[in-house]
Amino acid sequence: MIAACAGHCKAPWADFWHDAPPVRVLGIETSCDETGVAVFDTRQGLLGQALHSQVNLHALYGGVVPEIAARDHVRRLLPLLVEVLQQSGISRPDAIAYTAGPGLVGALMVGGGLANGLALAWDCPIVPVHHMEGHLVAPLLEDDVPEYPFLALLVSGGHSMLVSVQGLGRYTLLGSTLDDAAGEAFDKTAKLLGLGYPGGPALARLATQGDETAYDFPRPMLNRPGADFSFSGLKTAVMLEVRRAEEAGTLDAVRADIAASFQRAVVDTLVGRTLQAAKSVGAERVVIAGGVGANALLRQDLAERFRGRVYYPRLEFCTDNGAMIAVAGALRLADAASAGAIRATARWSLESLQPPAIAAA
Ligand code: KG4
Ligand code: ZN
Repeated sequence: MIAACAGHCKAPWADFWHDAPPVRVLGIETSCDETGVAVFDTRQGLLGQALHSQVNLHALYGGVVPEIAARDHVRRLLPLLVEVLQQSGISRPDAIAYTAGPGLVGALMVGGGLANGLALAWDCPIVPVHHMEGHLVAPLLEDDVPEYPFLALLVSGGHSMLVSVQGLGRYTLLGSTLDDAAGEAFDKTAKLLGLGYPGGPALARLATQGDETAYDFPRPMLNRPGADFSFSGLKTAVMLEVRRAEEAGTLDAVRADIAASFQRAVVDTLVGRTLQAAKSVGAERVVIAGGVGANALLRQDLAERFRGRVYYPRLEFCTDNGAMIAVAGALRLADAASAGAIRATARWSLESLQPPAIAAA
C-alpha cells in the first residue's frame, strides 16, 4: 500500500520505503518527443528535473518523425543531465532508471544507451521502466497520494486503458481502445481543424471559445458492455462536419464549436466508461494519468461525477517527463540489474508486468 506520511517526514511517500536508507534515482525518459531527466530521492522527493520538448521540430511534419526524435534526444540528454545534477546538488545518483518501452525504438535506444553507459561509469544499478507504469505512478509526486487498490484511466497519445491496480505490478486490463488512442483522436481532429501539432492542448484551448452543444457527435461504446473505447467513428463524424463546413465556406465560424463538441464527446465517453468500470470493480479511487489527463474538462468532469476520490498528477507530470520514470525506478529498485544490456521494446503490455522482485518473494 502506498501510504501517506503522518507528518514526521518531508515526503508523503516516505513510509513506502520504510526505514531504508535514502536512494537518489536518476530518471531518463526518451520514448517519444520529450527528453526528460529528473532525480528523485526516496526520502526528500523530487530534487531536480528538466524537460525538453521537440514539438517545434515535428510540427513541420504534422506528427512525430522517429529519426528526428532519436537524433534530438542525442543532442539534448547530456546538457539536461548536467542541469538536473546541479539542481539536485549531487555529482552522481545511487541508481538509474530509464524508459525501456513501449515507444519509438530509436528514441528508446538513446536513453537506454546513456543510462547503461552512466551506470557502467558510476558502477550503479539500473532499472528499465515501462513507460505506462511511469504514468501510473506519477500521482506519487503529489502530496495527496492514492492508496491501493485504485482504478486507473491511462490516456496518452499512444494508449487508452482502464486498469484495475491492486498494487505495483498487479494490473488487470479492464478495457483499452479498439482503434485510436484518446490523444491520437485529439491530435487527428486538431489536424482536421487546421490546428498545429500536438493537437490536444491546441484543441482544448480553442474549445473554450466554442459551444459544446452545437454538434451532437457520437459517444462511442457507451451503450455497450465492457470497458473498451473506440474513437474512429467520432473522428469520421467530425471529418464529415468539417468537410460540410468547408464546402459551405463556414469553417472559420464553426471551428471552435466543432472543437468544443468533439472535446465534450471524448470526455463523456472517457468519463462514462470510467464510471462503468469503477462500478464493476467497486473502485473507491480513480487515478487519471497520461497526456490527455492534462485536459481540464476531463479532470473536472470526472471529479464531479465520480463518488469516490479522483487523483491526478499536476499538469507537467501528466505529459511525458523524467520524474515519473525516476519514481517508477525507485519503486522497482528490487528489480535493478547491472549495466550492460540496453532494453528497448516498442510494444510491451502493461499487464505482463509483475510486482517488484522483493514483493513477490
Ligand atoms: O503521455 P503523453 O505526453 O505522450 C505519450 O505517451 O503519448 O501524451 C501526449 C498526448 C498527445 O496526444 C496530446 O495531444 C495529448 O496527450 N494532450 C492533450 C492535452 N495535453 C496533451 N489532450 C487533450 N487535452 C490536453 N490538454
Ligand atoms: Zn506518455
